[in-house]
Amino acid sequence: MSMTLGELATIASDCRRCRLANGRTQVVFGVGNPRAGVMFIGEGPGYYEDKQGEPFVGAAGQLLTQMLGEIGLRREDVYIANVVKCRPPGNRDPLPDEIEACRPYLLGQLENIQPRLIVTLGNFATRVVLNRQVGISRVRGQRFDIDGRTVLPTFHPAAILHGGGQASPQMAALRSDFRTIAEILAEPQPVAVAAEEQLGLF
Ligand code: URA
Repeated sequence: MSMTLGELATIASDCRRCRLANGRTQVVFGVGNPRAGVMFIGEGPGYYEDKQGEPFVGAAGQLLTQMLGEIGLRREDVYIANVVKCRPPGNRDPLPDEIEACRPYLLGQLENIQPRLIVTLGNFATRVVLNRQVGISRVRGQRFDIDGRTVLPTFHPAAILHGGGQASPQMAALRSDFRTIAEILAEPQPVAVAAEEQLGLF
C-alpha cells in the first residue's frame, strides 16, 4: 500500500491539482470508520460541507444519516467520501478534468479502507466507479462485481429532496436499496478476506 489515509488527507489538504482549489474554503477529504465494510461515495461538497470540512452534513446528508439509521448504522460505522473533494462553485457539476485530478485520492481511500461494499450515490459516483456512462435510474439497486468488491448504485439523496421528497417512488427505491445494503453486509465474509483480517493484514 502506497500511502495511509492520514498521509493522503494531509496531502489533499493543500491540493492544487485543479481549479476547484481556488474557490474552496477547505478540502473535504472523507469521514468515518477507516475499517468500514461499506463506503458511500457522493459527488462533491456543497455549501455546508465546504464550511465544515465534512461530507454530507447538509440537507442531503441528513437524509443519508436517516437512511443509515433505518438499517441500524451510524455515520461512524461507515466511510463517506465524494468523487471530488472540493466544492464546485455554485454547486455546479464537477468537470471531467476535476474528477480525473481527484481520482488518486478516491483510489487511495478505496485502497486503504478496502470496503466489501461501495455504494455510489447518483450519476457521477456511479459513472466513476463503474467506469461506464450509465444513468442512475437504469442501474440503481443492481449489484455489480468490480475487482472482487460489490458496487451498489443508488439515488443521490439530494435528488430525492429536489424531486418528490419522502413520499416519492425514488424515496421508496432508496429505502429498498438501503435494505439491500443491510443484506449484503449481513452476508458471510469471503473466507480469504476474513482470514487476512484475523491476521491483521488489513
Ligand atoms: N452532495 C454530495 O454529493 N456530497 C456531499 O458531501 C454533500 C452533498
